[in-house]
Amino acid sequence: MSELQQKRNILITSALPYANGSLHLGHLVEHTQSDIWARLMRARGHHVHYLCADDAHGTPIMLNAEKQGVTPEQLVDAQHEEHWRDLQGFSISYDHYHSTHSEENRELVEGIYLKLRDNGHIESRDVEQYYDPEKEMFLPDRFVKGTCPKCGTEDQYGDNCESCGSTYDSSELINPRSAVSGATPVLKTSKHLFVNLKNFEDMLKQWVRSGSLQSEVSNKLEEWFEAGLQSWDISRDAPYFGFQIPDEENKYFYVWMDAPIGYLACLKYVLDQQNEPLTPWIDPDSDHEMYHFIGKDILYFHSLFWPAMLYGAGQKLPTAVYVHGFLTVNGQKMSKTRGTFIKAATYLQHLEADYLRYYYAAKLSDGVVDIDLNMEDFRQRVNSDLVGKVVNIASRCAGFISKRFDGTLSAELHRPELYQEFVQASEHIAQRFESRKYNAAIREIMRLADVANQYIAEAEPWVAIKDETRQQEVHQVCSTGINLFRILMTWLAPVIPNTAVKAAEFLQTDLNKWAAIDTPLLNHAINRFKPLLARIEDETLTTIMEQSKEDLEKAATEGQAQPLSPELQNDPISDEINFDAFAKVDLRVVEIAAAEHVEGADKLLRLTLDLGGEQRQVFAGIKSAYQPEDLVGKLTVMVANLAPRKMRFGVSEGMVLAAGPGGEDLYVLEPNEGARPGMRVK
Ligand code: 2FM
Ligand code: ZN
Repeated sequence: MSELQQKRNILITSALPYANGSLHLGHLVEHTQSDIWARLMRARGHHVHYLCADDAHGTPIMLNAEKQGVTPEQLVDAQHEEHWRDLQGFSISYDHYHSTHSEENRELVEGIYLKLRDNGHIESRDVEQYYDPEKEMFLPDRFVKGTCPKCGTEDQYGDNCESCGSTYDSSELINPRSAVSGATPVLKTSKHLFVNLKNFEDMLKQWVRSGSLQSEVSNKLEEWFEAGLQSWDISRDAPYFGFQIPDEENKYFYVWMDAPIGYLACLKYVLDQQNEPLTPWIDPDSDHEMYHFIGKDILYFHSLFWPAMLYGAGQKLPTAVYVHGFLTVNGQKMSKTRGTFIKAATYLQHLEADYLRYYYAAKLSDGVVDIDLNMEDFRQRVNSDLVGKVVNIASRCAGFISKRFDGTLSAELHRPELYQEFVQASEHIAQRFESRKYNAAIREIMRLADVANQYIAEAEPWVAIKDETRQQEVHQVCSTGINLFRILMTWLAPVIPNTAVKAAEFLQTDLNKWAAIDTPLLNHAINRFKPLLARIEDETLTTIMEQSKEDLEKAATEGQAQPLSPELQNDPISDEINFDAFAKVDLRVVEIAAAEHVEGADKLLRLTLDLGGEQRQVFAGIKSAYQPEDLVGKLTVMVANLAPRKMRFGVSEGMVLAAGPGGEDLYVLEPNEGARPGMRVK
């Protein structure tokens, strides 16, 4: 770090994994992204606290522990051990890995809550909710199942239907039952506590525009402001695994209240050990910085609730929230059946962490975009970039240095200006890493690795060595090559730390100091070169995927809960589907052969659709806009390969396409002249 650069105090966090399932490669995108950033900031000389913890509370963990016949504390402890082992396996360099079920957290949560309450930001009101009379507990929406009130599909969760995608209140479900005991739940009222988010609207609007968020994230937030901010329910009734709310009876803090406070609890734990105060980290006027790396699915909590809580309690706001997209594998959402739902531990049994870290870095940008782990591309890219380009530079030069020059680098470089060209690129590369454009940084590093390889290829030390008069030249050429390798490895050290440790041992130098590369290694003894990285074999990847299928079969038979996988997560930023998904939709021109009212249905018409020979029955929610007789004989478009759905009134064998906001303003699509029933829509 130059004199001019200031040493910054930086807190960096990743989202806290639920203590309710193993880590998988989807989790590792974020831990890798934040770890590279933390390592870079340390290498740039800043004072960094890089922290994470398990997110231990909530109903699913409580119920899962019960199912396994252990206490929630035992379950949480076991998960903590497993998560920490996996994270270390991936060389994620957290300074500490804590738990939200800790005394530090209890203390901070109570403190923040009491400040919010005393500052008039907490309100209470009665909430009616399903209650399981057998288990004697209130049921979160996820634990109520029943028939979808919109389309009639059975066995749907309490707040949305996987079949028709509609969202509703769990009290609207037909034939509701408790997913915990199977009992029929009853509606029961209880007092809940809310944070009045409206009180923070002005502050939040300002914060959103302050540059703390990526532009696509700010846009999303503007939409949420337009929709109106709702008060946030932060209480849950007993039984609940969490912290009790002060001055309330049998009420607990909702897990999402204490989870982000867990970031600070972890920091408090570390600072307590070092006898350092927390104050500068939470004081709104201090210059300490706080960065949160998160996935796009938990944006609402981090961009609205969390700053509101901090502000309401008189604390410092996050400096920035960095949001990333989801992971797809081979172009699709991670899938248990395809073997692409890969647990962190399974990967580590077969491959070094650095390979995946490198691949993720090569793909990650500063945008909220999904990244794809394409197995074949992964293998080729790692083999060609890391093994074929970077490590190759050292292996081409090292032999001559140890065999001919006593293991010592020359006193002068063959091409000092080339060395300088690399040094000059350093600041630019650092900036790319710091602004989280890792893909751009990696592109630049690989371009320079090509330059280094080309230099060695042109200098041909293996030819010159045969000429007695050119020995000094060979010494200097190989020393230049080794010095360029040292710069490349310093840049890559935050990305591939294990390889960097081996390279540092070979070079007998510290690769974790960015500023050190200004000075080349001259007259410097190095160790014998040992291969730093092996190529990834095709079979290894096949084995990982096969084993992943087995892992999940085992988990299913043991009834172990899996974490919420990306395939189940909502994507708030983009509703994109890939081309393969689109291509699967079979759209057909159909003629409406018959249309009639459905007894007992307010919105539906029963349509008989002719696909050019074959007939289908479809229930369409277009009654508000059409009289049945107006539809008969019309051509329209249907989704012909939608799985049949059993509804209260019969089976619906597809869906017709209609446009418009609803009510009378709804129009079934009509193809142009020339279209015939049965034709495929392309
Ligand atoms: O979505 C999740 O996995 C949560 N456990 C993340 C919590 S992040 C923070 F707020 F603690
Ligand atoms: Zn439905």
